[in-house]
Amino acid sequence: MADAQYAISQWHDTEEIYTRLRELVRQPIRPIRRDRMSEFLNYFETKCVCSKALTEEAKQYIPGGVQHNLAFNYPFPLAVGKAEGPYMWDVDGNRYIDFLQAGGPTVLGSNYAPVRDKVFELLQTCGPVTGLFHEYELKLAQLLCRLMPSIEMFRMLGSGTEGVIAAIRGARTFTGKKKVIKVGGAYHGWSDQMVFGLHVPGTGRMEAKGIPGGCTRDTQEFYPNDLGQLRRLMALNRLRGGTAAVIVEPVGPESGTRPVPRDFNQKVRELCDEFGALLIFDEVVTGFRLGLGGAQGYFGVKPDLTVFGKCITGGYPMAGGVGGRREIMMRFAAGIGGTGERAYVGGTLSANPLSCVAGYYALLEMERTNAPLIAGRAGDRLTKGLNEIITRYKLPFVAFNQGSIVHLETSGVMLLDFKNPLKLLREVKPRKHMMEEMGAAYMSQGLITLAGSRMYTSLADTDAVIDDALNRFEDVLSSVEGI
Ligand SMILES: Cc1ncc(COP(=O)(O)O)c(C=O)c1O
Repeated sequence: MADAQYAISQWHDTEEIYTRLRELVRQPIRPIRRDRMSEFLNYFETKCVCSKALTEEAKQYIPGGVQHNLAFNYPFPLAVGKAEGPYMWDVDGNRYIDFLQAGGPTVLGSNYAPVRDKVFELLQTCGPVTGLFHEYELKLAQLLCRLMPSIEMFRMLGSGTEGVIAAIRGARTFTGKKKVIKVGGAYHGWSDQMVFGLHVPGTGRMEAKGIPGGCTRDTQEFYPNDLGQLRRLMALNRLRGGTAAVIVEPVGPESGTRPVPRDFNQKVRELCDEFGALLIFDEVVTGFRLGLGGAQGYFGVKPDLTVFGKCITGGYPMAGGVGGRREIMMRFAAGIGGTGERAYVGGTLSANPLSCVAGYYALLEMERTNAPLIAGRAGDRLTKGLNEIITRYKLPFVAFNQGSIVHLETSGVMLLDFKNPLKLLREVKPRKHMMEEMGAAYMSQGLITLAGSRMYTSLADTDAVIDDALNRFEDVLSSVEGI
């Protein structure tokens, strides 16, 4: 647990963050003043004409006109023309500081040339896919085993969602048990069994439209950080098929939006051992972003299985996989002649050479440049600056970070839960709309965030980029009502 190798310079005071978040959610919202908001929205009408035309046309052919969950739709989506390092340009030529970073995979910054060169080289020799084995599959798997001691074998798949499906299937096959427990509010992709307790803890099947009840019958959730509830569930499960696995995002649900105390993962590990369940770390976001040893290296906790996504291909397509203990991983053995013990996984494009070469060189470059650590320090600088602005303007907002994962909570919508259903029903819409407005306001000032409340920093974020971003954030945050 040598912190010097990791993006997190110091684990935050989790209790203090929750105290501030609870206070934020207790208060009425503090949106941007209406006159200023009109000015911010006017930017889109006057400066983003080509984006508007393109995405309007797209509405006729694509449901909602936009396909990516993280694309920002308010007041309308932007169409991107170019991305490079810390910046993104829209099709109208406007430049933005890009803290979306594609939702997390590009710790080296966007369109990083040394990795792109290796991808071109491979495309010129064998193209993106052959259906047969390629040496880069081996190289990537070997590299993962070197970087993370819990990974004894690795199976590459098409996405984080697929990695989670495989991990759960493998856990059930290996343990012969049924139930899978997740943390309420956590996101583990969109498979039938994991659209459960999504975003808002305690909401169970609320988002599970089109998913038969049977698919989520063996999925359970517990309130964030409530280890007592987890223990009770696992004890009860002994009478109803047993707990196959507990799956966690190691920094907390929604990439640490609801952060964990530092010893949380160790305690979940102990409960899993006590009840004979597997511990699955979903490192889709944290894997390599927190450090090349992942969150498991930082916390010093060894999961049985680890799910990968995003950074595993450095931002190139088909990013997903699962790795872990050899005897569990052997349940995914491919090829003809299955034993009946096999947990079925597949995918025409899984482990294609393009994804593997990109991941292999991206991880090597991250190691060579110390990218996770540098991105983490940029996250620290951004968080410190945001908190200074918040203090200076006496705002109730909360900024905190886990290295290069930076949270800026202004509306508190992500902190509502089902323990107070009336408040949830009454406030979810206005708080969500405020978050949308904040995201649009940041964008009008040249800042792209993830849904107006999260920022991913990268190797490309120099002090000058962060300081420029802070000035832009201040233009928005100083326009809030009541200052
Ligand atoms: C923690 C976590 N798990 C799983 C997923 C799903 O990964 P993918 O979008 O590659 O299916 C995500 C995606 O954001 C994630 O953040």
